[in-house]
Amino acid sequence: MFKQLSEPLETISVTLNGHKIDAAKGMTVAALALSQNLPYTRTTPVSGARRAPFCMMGVCYDCLMMIDGIPNQRACATLLSEGMRIETQQANGPDWGER
Ligand code: FES
Repeated sequence: MFKQLSEPLETISVTLNGHKIDAAKGMTVAALALSQNLPYTRTTPVSGARRAPFCMMGVCYDCLMMIDGIPNQRACATLLSEGMRIETQQANGPDWGER
């Protein structure tokens, strides 16, 4: 779906669903997910329906992902950083129990 038009000047290393990936510095998490043909970035809490980036400008919240262990991060509004851990979010994210 998404294709990089030219080779990146600088790359960084991130982890997407446990797979180490070299990505262009300055790319958003959503762009990385789409370029890797990730089928979805989250599932909804009620029906479990699959969602993927839609608006790419921080409005629809369909791109929510777990980033560095924190759920509900908008992938389209988050730039990649070295060593970032990105995961598809299931429903509301992890059950952290009572706090
Ligand atoms: S794609 Fe719509 S908020 Fe991220």
